[in-house]
This record gives sequence, structure tokens and C-alpha cells, in this order.
Amino acid sequence: MKTSDFKRNIYCGEVRSADIGRTLTVCGWVQRNRDLGSLIFIDLRDRTGIIQLAFDDNTSRDIFDEAFAVRAEFVLQATGVLRERSSKNPDLPTGDVELEVTELIVLSKAETPPFEIVEDSDVNDALRLKYRYLDLRRPDMQRYIALRHRTTKVTRDYFDENGFYEIETPMLTKSTPEGARDYLVPSRVHKGKFYALPQSPQQYKQLLMLAGFDKYLQIVRCFRDEDLRADRQPEFTQIDLEMSFVDMEDVIAINEGYMKRIFKDILDVDVQLPMQRLTYREAMDRFGSDKPDLRFGLELSDISDIVKGCEFKVFAEPVANGGSLRMICVPGGGSMPRKQIDSLVEYVKTYGAKGLAWTKLAEDGSVSSSYSKFLTDEENEQIIKRAGAKAGDLILIVADVKEDVVFASLGALRVECAKRLDLTPQGVFNFVWITEFPMFEYSEEEDRFVAVHHPFTAPMDEDMHLLESDKAKCRAKQYDLVLNGTELGSGSIRINTPEMQEQVFRAVGLTPQEANEKFSHLITAFKYGAPPHGGIAYGLDRLVAHFAGLSSIRDTIAFPKVQNASEPMTACPDIVDEKQLKELGIALAAE
Ligand code: AMO
Ligand code: AMP
Repeated sequence: MKTSDFKRNIYCGEVRSADIGRTLTVCGWVQRNRDLGSLIFIDLRDRTGIIQLAFDDNTSRDIFDEAFAVRAEFVLQATGVLRERSSKNPDLPTGDVELEVTELIVLSKAETPPFEIVEDSDVNDALRLKYRYLDLRRPDMQRYIALRHRTTKVTRDYFDENGFYEIETPMLTKSTPEGARDYLVPSRVHKGKFYALPQSPQQYKQLLMLAGFDKYLQIVRCFRDEDLRADRQPEFTQIDLEMSFVDMEDVIAINEGYMKRIFKDILDVDVQLPMQRLTYREAMDRFGSDKPDLRFGLELSDISDIVKGCEFKVFAEPVANGGSLRMICVPGGGSMPRKQIDSLVEYVKTYGAKGLAWTKLAEDGSVSSSYSKFLTDEENEQIIKRAGAKAGDLILIVADVKEDVVFASLGALRVECAKRLDLTPQGVFNFVWITEFPMFEYSEEEDRFVAVHHPFTAPMDEDMHLLESDKAKCRAKQYDLVLNGTELGSGSIRINTPEMQEQVFRAVGLTPQEANEKFSHLITAFKYGAPPHGGIAYGLDRLVAHFAGLSSIRDTIAFPKVQNASEPMTACPDIVDEKQLKELGIALAAE
């Protein structure tokens, strides 16, 4: 094989008519090789795009023969003079020109790849991920990864300009209670003891505020052993920040500025400030979710007052027992065939609803309903009136003694109906801050109250008295940033006194002894001068997915994990040598 004695001086995708006549050297992978007898065209690809290499009567025999032997995904270096193409390709940015090759080096040969390297490939996921380095060669994947780079670059620039220091925190840490399971790392030196990979740098960033750094930023890997979903990976990246001497308004202001900047720089979208805000309670009441998608209506309304005395037990009983009865009105839903409505009934059951009552107002004026015969004419009319329903609409009602079930099922149903009826406008970015979250929620699994966010979040001043007397009503200084129905970021103003921290630990059921074992470093630190502080963390992967228009975060990550948390390319997790286990003092239990 010849070795290269000339250097690339342009990327394949960057050649234009203005370069005609220049001697250029390009490097890349062969997209395809077209042999037209006395003519050969090779499309050469690098991360910027494709250039056409031309070989014809003027090409030396050696080079022509070499070009003839080239196959897809060979790596080439080619030098020649750029010339105008005789048949132009208006679909390619480089389609007006081609390189008349005078020197060609095959830098690497390639076996036939298991799939073709093309945009929007429909190759199955298992194969894509097994050969991820080939998958990543596809132009769309190259774009997503470049977008991720731009996102972190703009993020660093913005926060640097605003006085933030980027500070790294340890990966081998003590377990932090973020709610998911920890990934554990056994210690060789301290047999029987384990590090935990961080679920987030929460405590460290607070300690950095106590250390006087004032403003902290880190683009940081976090690890959570939880079930994978479209917007969750076991290993993901946070844009994590913390600020001292601030209240919620200060944190929101700097973050609104960040969103404005990054959406302008990445997508050329102008985000309108200030962003909309909803309290948690409003969000639940109107949208059934603490991450509402505000791109479409379909708001929930309470109809318990209309039917509280009715004969129909399905409606009356939950209301009588302190439950909830709410509806959504789906514009255009009246055209849904019965079978589709039945599938909605099944859909809400996955959210715990016992049923779904519906009224369909067809375009022709006819009305059909699953429940109207159980109600009086007046009750039926009142429901239709409150829904603002007109011909062509569909009313959907869920009743349950548990308000949570009504919210969860109608919250999901409004999104599902918007999807099915194509009611979601594209290219629209609807931000909303959700505030006044409950501080605690009751965990049936653990039979105790747990922190909704984490136990370092401060209670709202006006609810301090509820911390002991009525935990369920106590609200927190938490704020989440929601974009088009996804939680982009979550943050809070933190506790900064040992007394309040101990009180909150007690409220989540930690004995003073347990609190001391797990968090003595933090409680002690609060005794040596702790500034008021607060911050937020965004999911970088989720932000990039929005920029890329992807519904899953997977392709924003170069080497992601799959459903069962494994990585098909390297086939990890994997077994290790007996010797390694022995060194760690670990013996595997028999299956
Ligand atoms: P939280 O746990 O809400 O807060 O996480 C912050 C943001 O991180 C993203 N995120 C994830 N992204 C992908 N895969 C996951 N498994 C995953 N889990 C979370 C979400 C989420 O909004 N320490 C606090 C932040 C703070 O209080 O400052 C924290 O970690 O976008
Ligand atoms: P039934 O009397 O059980 O046949 O129910 C009559 C109608 O009420 C059916 O359309 C059911 O789907 C609906 N329904 C049953 N349970 C609920 C519920 N929890 N919420 C709303 N509608 C319900």
C-alpha cells in the first residue's frame, strides 16, 4: 500500500464552484462506486458530506485500475483538480463540481458492511448498536452528535460569561438518595465496602457553595439503575448548576437567559421571556400532569359538582368518598370509530383507571354515550355545556376515589388523543416552569413519606409549620422546567441550616442516627457558615433530543445502552475473572 505524502486541505462536503481549478486533497469513506466502463465515479464521504471523484480517459491507467477495485467503505485519500460537472446534481451542496483525480491512496480496505451507511436507515436496532461505529457514520447520526457538541459548547460559553466555574466532582462516591437504585463499585482496599456511582452531584455541588465558589457548572455523567424508557438511560448527562446568595427568581432568570441563548444559537428559535409558570396544583388540575404539554388544549375539567347527587354509582361514589371526577373534551374526536374509543378505554386502564366514560357528538348531530342513560337530561346537558363540546367532539370522563389515578389517566389520555388526531403543532417550543411542588409524597412501597425531589430541598417559608403537622400539604421551593411535555430540568432552593436539614430528614423517616451515618458531612458543613443557595440540573440528552427532533434520547448518545441496560457492541456487562472477584473479596451466590 502506498503511504500518504500529501495532506488533506478541504473536507469532502465543503467543495464549491468557487474552488474550481484548485488542486485539492480529500479523505473519507467510499459511499458508492459507479463504474460506467470508460468512466468511474466514486462518492467519497466524510463528516461534512460527499464529493464526487471522477476517473476517465485522462486518468492514468494505474489509478483507474485502483479506482475500479475500490468498494463501499474503503478509506481513501484523493488528490486532483476540481472541475465543473457535466451533469450537475442539484440535491447535493457539492453537486456542481467533481474532483478529477490524479493521485489516489487506499488508506484502508473494508469488508462489506452488515448494513448500508445511509440516512434514515431502517436497519434493526440490535444490528445498528452491535456495529455502532458504522451506524454513527450515517449522516443523521453525525448531525446528532455534532448537535450535542454544539449544545455543550454554547452551554459552557453562556455559563462562563455569567461567572460560573466548571468544577468536577467525584465519580466514586457515597450513595445519594435521588430515588433510583445505585450502581455500586466494590472497594479492593476496603473489603466489603462499596462506592456508589453518582446519581447526581447534588451534595458535592452544595458543598462547593459552602466552599465559597459562588457559581458552579458541570456537564456531568450520572448513573441510575432504573428501568430504561425513551427518555431515560442508566448512564446519562446532566447540565448541573448551583448558585449562592440567590432565591428562586434569580435561578429562574439565569436559566431563562440560558434557554433563550441556546435555542437561538442551535435552532435560531426566539424563546419568548418571561416563560409561563404554573403551580404544581394548577398543572395537575388543568393538565393532569406536572410536565404538561402546552402545545394543545384538551384541558381537564372537574364535573364532580354536576353529578355528585346522581343515580349513577360509577360517578357518584368516588365523589361521595372524597375522590375525583374529571373530563377532557377532544375536538374532532367525534369522528373516532367505536373501535378506537374502545382502545382508549383499554389505554386508560394501564394508568389504573377502572373505566372510561364517553360521549360522542357526531358531525351529523347524533349523540352516543356510554353513560348518558344513567344521568338526567339536565346533568347530561350540563356536562356537554361545561366541556364546550360541539358536533364532532368527544367527551372522555374518568372517575376514581384516587385523584392520582384520574390525573394520571386523563393526563396521559390528552397526550394520546392529541397524537392520534394530530393536534400537536410541530416546530413549536412551549416552556413552562412548574413551581410549588409538594415537598413529600407517600410511598406505599416504603410505607413512609419520601421527598418528591430530594431531601435537600427547602420547604416554602409559608409551609414550614406543616413540616411536622401535615406533611402531605407542605410545599417545596422546587421548580421544574418543562418543554413540550418533557421535564427538561429540575431544581430547588436548598436547605442551609443543620436544624432544618435534620427536621427534613426526620420527616422522611430517617432517625437522627441514620441521618448522621449518611449525611454527617453535610450537617456538619452547615455548621461552618452556609450561604443560601439553589440550583438546577437539566438532562443534556433530552435537550439535544429536542434540538434533533428525536422522540428518544438514545441517538443523542454515541454509545447508548439498550432496554436491558446492556451495551451490544462491547457486550457489557460481562463476567469477570475469578481472580478479580477474589481480590475484591466477592463470592457470587449460586443461582
Ligand atoms: P433530577 O433527578 O430531577 O434532579 O434530574 C435532573 C434532570 O436530569 C434528567 N434525567 C435523566 N435523563 C436521562 N436519563 C435518566 N435516567 C434521567 N434522570 C434524570 C432529567 C431531569 O430533569 N440533583 C437534582 C437537580 C437539582 O436539584 O439541582 C437532580 O438530579 O432531564
Ligand atoms: P358499567 O355500569 O360498569 O357498565 O359502566 C358504564 C360506563 O361507565 C361504561 O362506559 C364504563 O366504561 C364507564 N366507567 C366505568 N368505570 C368508570 C370510571 N372509573 N370512570 C369513568 N367511567 C367509568
